[in-house]
Amino acid sequence: MIIECRDLIKTYQADGRRMNAVDEASFVVQQGEFIFIHGHSGSGKTTLLSLIGGLTSPDTGQVLIDGRDNWQQSDNALSDLRNRTIGFIFQFASLIPALTVLENVLLPMSFGGVAAGARERATQLLVEVGLKEKMHSYPGQLSGGQQRRVAIARAFINKPAIILADEPTGDLDEETEQEIFELFKTFNREQRTTFLIVTHNQHLATTIPGSRVFTMRQGLLKEIQAG
Ligand SMILES: Nc1ncnc2c1ncn2[C@@H]1O[C@H](COP(=O)(O)OP(=O)(O)OP(=O)(O)O)[C@@H](O)[C@H]1O
Ligand SMILES: [Mg+2]
Repeated sequence: MIIECRDLIKTYQADGRRMNAVDEASFVVQQGEFIFIHGHSGSGKTTLLSLIGGLTSPDTGQVLIDGRDNWQQSDNALSDLRNRTIGFIFQFASLIPALTVLENVLLPMSFGGVAAGARERATQLLVEVGLKEKMHSYPGQLSGGQQRRVAIARAFINKPAIILADEPTGDLDEETEQEIFELFKTFNREQRTTFLIVTHNQHLATTIPGSRVFTMRQGLLKEIQAG
């Protein structure tokens, strides 16, 4: 199994009260699976992805990626995991304004040294998300949907084993959304990439046979469709 969550609990203090943003989540994901997570605003979806990606530490419980506990390893090993094993597509645009589109896509590579062929790979990814012409533009010169597509290309640059995607197509039209999901399916087929996708679009899961669907409600995670 590529991801294992055991009794994950994350609480936050709100108005002097503690609330469970994630309440005892336990589940296992095998390599190459497509997982969809639905749920109302504030139900804990982003918190869950941050816990899995090692961006937030749980109060109690464990996250194991490829058998290794996120919080039982050195800071270096954890950053390495976040850089190489996991590709993040955040809920809100997260590009560096001072870098060009191409430089933004290459950014996750720069931590480990930009490998030979990296520019070609970045260019190819930008072609696939339909942004070849914008390669040398800056994020401020792009629309919200275009920025989102740059973030999608960036998430794939290191060929991560896992993609954690928070509303990856939230601000895209239906046709572009479909294209992005075709791209996801291609990576899944060719590289056995595992996908955890938070989305409000319940239709998407039906376009990917074998995908599993979870819902979150006040921190409680429940599987409603097994793969
Ligand atoms: N850093 C934080 N400090 C305090 N409370 C937080 C923090 N992050 C999240 N929360 C609270 O935890 C709960 C879950 O938040 P989360 O962002 O995970 O929800 P979500 O399901 O992603 O919602 P949305 O669909 O609106 O993005 C919310 O009640 C939120 O207010
Ligand atoms: Mg969220």
